[in-house]
Amino acid sequence: MSLKEIFENQPERRYIMFGGKGGLGKTTLSATCALWLARQGKRVLLFSVDPQASLSDIFERDIFGKGPVPIVENLWAQEIDADKRIREYQDEIRRKILDMYGFDRVPEEIDNYISAASAEPAMEESAIFDAVVDIIVQGNYDYYIYDLVPLGHALYYLSMAKVYDEWINKITKLREEMRQYDQMAATLRRQQALEEDKILEELQYIKNRINASSQILTDKRRTAFFFVLIPEEMILLDTRKASELFARFDVPISGYVVNRVLPPHLEQENLPVYLKNRIAMQQKYLAQIRESLGSQVLAYVPEMERDITGLPMIERLAERLFQSSNDLNP
Ligand SMILES: Nc1ncnc2c1ncn2[C@@H]1O[C@H](COP(=O)(O)OP(=O)(O)OP(=O)(O)O)[C@@H](O)[C@H]1O
Ligand SMILES: [Mg+2]
Repeated sequence: MSLKEIFENQPERRYIMFGGKGGLGKTTLSATCALWLARQGKRVLLFSVDPQASLSDIFERDIFGKGPVPIVENLWAQEIDADKRIREYQDEIRRKILDMYGFDRVPEEIDNYISAASAEPAMEESAIFDAVVDIIVQGNYDYYIYDLVPLGHALYYLSMAKVYDEWINKITKLREEMRQYDQMAATLRRQQALEEDKILEELQYIKNRINASSQILTDKRRTAFFFVLIPEEMILLDTRKASELFARFDVPISGYVVNRVLPPHLEQENLPVYLKNRIAMQQKYLAQIRESLGSQVLAYVPEMERDITGLPMIERLAERLFQSSNDLNP
């Protein structure tokens, strides 16, 4: 099967991810796929949580922290600004404290505590996680393409959904148990029982959101997870290990895309030894890829003459990424 056939035959797969090690072409292929789908008339949101603003680079526009930015008809790109998200969290916490205790300003010790807590790396992860959940559960687009950060982080993100889920399950259960006692005492402490209910409600709300998004991301019918690799020895080894890891997190891999393949027709030309060797090396690993992954490879993408930036260049790459299966082999 080709990538094109995957999209044509499985229209219910609306959550698309390109994963793989750093620098192999995840952002490039996500953007290429997004543009192709938009040209087919689908409403597409391409989004990223990468603080490196990689979508801004590839589209040559400032997208960072601006919400969904229209790129061409049917295509929007969004780069989540995690820091901004954390600042919004802080403001919300401050406001809640003011409301709850009737202060007219947040006491200094509490404010210091809020700032310190926000400097924790977990806070950034949680802000990012929350932003992704927001995007995924809103459902305004035909396709959501998630431009992932390198492998380890993607796994971290998915494992976090599981950890969160367990944690919230425990707390919810505790709360429910406590509620029985609260109800007994409710006549005496009416006010407090009401507050406990509110906390339980909030926990259930968070739990439902997390369930909704992690279910989507691990649901084979709705999610397509493509793995990007290049024909090099280390990458082949890593890819094998990674696919085992992903299996453990229940992330179904829909297929592989081999990027940066040197055009083999170069071989006939009078090449410097250096390039000849590189092509020979790639051919060796391409043979290994064909042998071990075979029909799971959905596209071979050539090495272009320069970095992929700007719409015309992305468009050219899209033609190669979505060519039909009979001319798939490099
Ligand atoms: N087929 C290709 N031909 C030429 N250049 C390419 C090709 N694919 C990717 N590149 C270039 O390689 C660089 C890395 O690609 P990209 O940013 O898409 O990788 P990434 O996997 O998203 O990296 P990161 O892990 O840092 O997010 C970019 O400069 C991109 O333009
Ligand atoms: Mg990237």
